[in-house]
Amino acid sequence: MVEKKRIGILTGGGDCPGLNAAIRGAAKGAVQRGYEVIGIHSGWKGFLDRDDELLDSARTSGIIDRGGTILGTSRVSPLAVENGTKFVFERFEELRLEGLVVLGGEGTLTVSGIMFDKGLPLVGIPKTIDNDVKDTDYSIGFQTAVQIATDALDRLRSTAESHHRIMLLEVMGRDTGWIATYAGLAAGADAILIPEIPVDKTKLEWLCYTVHERNRKGRRYSIVVVAEGTKLEGRSITREECDTSSEKRPLFGGVGELVGEAIQKSTGLETRVSTLGYIQRGGTPVAYDRNLATAFGAKAAELIANKKFGMMTALKGNTIRAVPLKNVATGKKTVDMKLYRVAERFFGLGGEI
Ligand code: F6P
Repeated sequence: MVEKKRIGILTGGGDCPGLNAAIRGAAKGAVQRGYEVIGIHSGWKGFLDRDDELLDSARTSGIIDRGGTILGTSRVSPLAVENGTKFVFERFEELRLEGLVVLGGEGTLTVSGIMFDKGLPLVGIPKTIDNDVKDTDYSIGFQTAVQIATDALDRLRSTAESHHRIMLLEVMGRDTGWIATYAGLAAGADAILIPEIPVDKTKLEWLCYTVHERNRKGRRYSIVVVAEGTKLEGRSITREECDTSSEKRPLFGGVGELVGEAIQKSTGLETRVSTLGYIQRGGTPVAYDRNLATAFGAKAAELIANKKFGMMTALKGNTIRAVPLKNVATGKKTVDMKLYRVAERFFGLGGEI
């Protein structure tokens, strides 16, 4: 019997809504081209642990609307494990894979670029609610996170209005403020604080003054969005992550509380802080993310079939493209300042109070 040709799929790094839609898109595209599809469990770790499964049509049906990833994920990098690269190549051979689809954020895709340079035939798909992967307009999961954060802000507005309070919402975004900017703009927030623009003493004073002025002029509530990675007087607010599987990295969180305290102390206005946390990363993907993920998955299968390895699927305007994976390692995609300035113009930090 002739054995079918095979490809593998893995999801690495933090999860996000839309991963399953992408797995489904890539698997369907590959099956149509005569491949069998192997799902590697828990990111790169699945290669090291020989933990994988056959993704047949039944397994990838009915998952387009499911949050998380049916394959599981981890932050394990084969480059950080002794003989990790060797294990990956060995298992890749054993599984008879012809190519690998890696769904990841900046970290996982950077590792993938290095693995490609070492000879592993792979293609990448960008996913992260933070939307900070370079060379693509959007990454899978971002639009869902923006919608969840916008819904939260809408809810905070009604209670802020009733109590004449200042409401702060801390959202994710370690290095970039994409969620804060898009959700803040969509919900008509009065201030948006992002990692790209550190908050120094003067800026904090100006924020407090503006909130106070709004109140004095009869606008008796204000809504402020803060991205978790926003630097306050030169420092990021973090605590140590307990990660058993890979390198430790700081966990962001708490900047909202500090900014809230500063506002209340300075203005004397009742201020409340909410942190959205992992709620913005879980659950059902919005239609946009399902469609982007499906298109990215299909494109990844096409790239593998055409042996166009070392590439990443990307959205440029309205077009799905393939870009060199190595571009991801050149840094993070920061917020479009033109858009941020539009949001800011509606607020006292840059415009009218
Ligand atoms: O998915 C990106 C992100 O949500 C960041 O904004 C956040 O700091 C980080 O992941 C936290 O995720 P984890 O606790 O899984 O490392």
